[in-house]
Amino acid sequence: MSTHSRCYDETIVRIYLDYNATAPLHPEVVDVMSRLLRDEFGNASSVHSFGQQAKMAVDDARTAVAALIGADPSDVVFTSGGTEADNLAIRGAAEAREAGGKRHLIASGIEHEAVLNTFKALERRGWITTLLPVGEDGILSPDVLRAALTPETAFVSVMHANNEVGTIQPIAELAAVTRATGALFHTDAVQSAGKIPVSVSALGVDLLSISGHKFGGPKGTGALWIRRGVRLTPFMTGGRQERNRRAGTENVPSLAGLGVAAAIARRQLDHAGLIAGQRDRLEQGILTGVPGTAINGDPHRRVPNTTNISFDGIEAESLLIALDLEGVAVSTGSACSSGSLEPSHVLKAMGLPHARTLGSIRFSLGAANTEADVDRVLEALPPLVEKLRSLTTVGGRK
Ligand SMILES: Cc1ncc(COP(=O)(O)O)c(C=O)c1O
Repeated sequence: MSTHSRCYDETIVRIYLDYNATAPLHPEVVDVMSRLLRDEFGNASSVHSFGQQAKMAVDDARTAVAALIGADPSDVVFTSGGTEADNLAIRGAAEAREAGGKRHLIASGIEHEAVLNTFKALERRGWITTLLPVGEDGILSPDVLRAALTPETAFVSVMHANNEVGTIQPIAELAAVTRATGALFHTDAVQSAGKIPVSVSALGVDLLSISGHKFGGPKGTGALWIRRGVRLTPFMTGGRQERNRRAGTENVPSLAGLGVAAAIARRQLDHAGLIAGQRDRLEQGILTGVPGTAINGDPHRRVPNTTNISFDGIEAESLLIALDLEGVAVSTGSACSSGSLEPSHVLKAMGLPHARTLGSIRFSLGAANTEADVDRVLEALPPLVEKLRSLTTVGGRK
């Protein structure tokens, strides 16, 4: 028995409420990937029929991904995920503009690390960066962006939906403000694609990133949509794949899985109301059943599956572990930073009091959740919170 499995009671019914970290693979995705892994090994660049079969699978996937974001397939570049799509957008645009003299980049302070740490890397190369504050509602105001744009600004990156609190940014307005100055606008749509309708033309952006594993596709898949005519310098150099924009032999089974997941996500966008109903019942049940709780972020302008709730007098990590022992999987923020006791940079950027940033839990629901899951969490949570409150004061043990 591994030390890992010893921590858990294997008879427990497990409830997964961490879809923003990753979503389970859809069975149709598993089927198509298994078939391709087993039966179709061709290289999509090969001229013979094995290659053409692989190329067809990649083309179908590109068409499905393009349809999910209202784009033309030829403007979609496959990547190894959301992180690489963000890197390609930001580094690619920066490098292509390095000689132009404009060296100012802007992002919101609530971006994912894929954007924030890429900005830091460019800072070390002499780029000037500005991270904009959001309101306590977790929304970036177009006026704040307008005031930050300068003639030196080359590029702005603002996420469509935030991974921790779920807030949806006014991307169409932010993009319009930016593009009026001649700067490029990128949005990280990793947490919105598959959850709400996403249309590159309605948003009016230049670049848009998505990630497959957030909507039932395999990990290690994603895409960057590039508006036609926008110049990027690729950082993966090698073969001529992806029309010279991202070198490397295509991962055909995974891309096919991404395509199937995109098609299913698009078909199931109208299930959002069902998920929102469960989310709202969970949220209301917590707010009324557990004293000292509050929603973080705008309760209306957010994706349908996410609620981020602060619990006064609780260390979120302790509650996460207590819930996990009860079979309920949640998160204290972005999956990449869990394990560290640093308060969430998102909640900090929203200006929430320190104690509240340390006591916040993200519940993110998805297609497989049921009303019974909500009932179970609402039953388990109040006594756990009460027990932890009797043991803990934030900042130290009693
Ligand atoms: C908003 C956002 N952007 C980017 C990423 C990174 O995507 P990937 O895991 O595919 O690299 C994530 C993943 O958590 C995310 O939530």
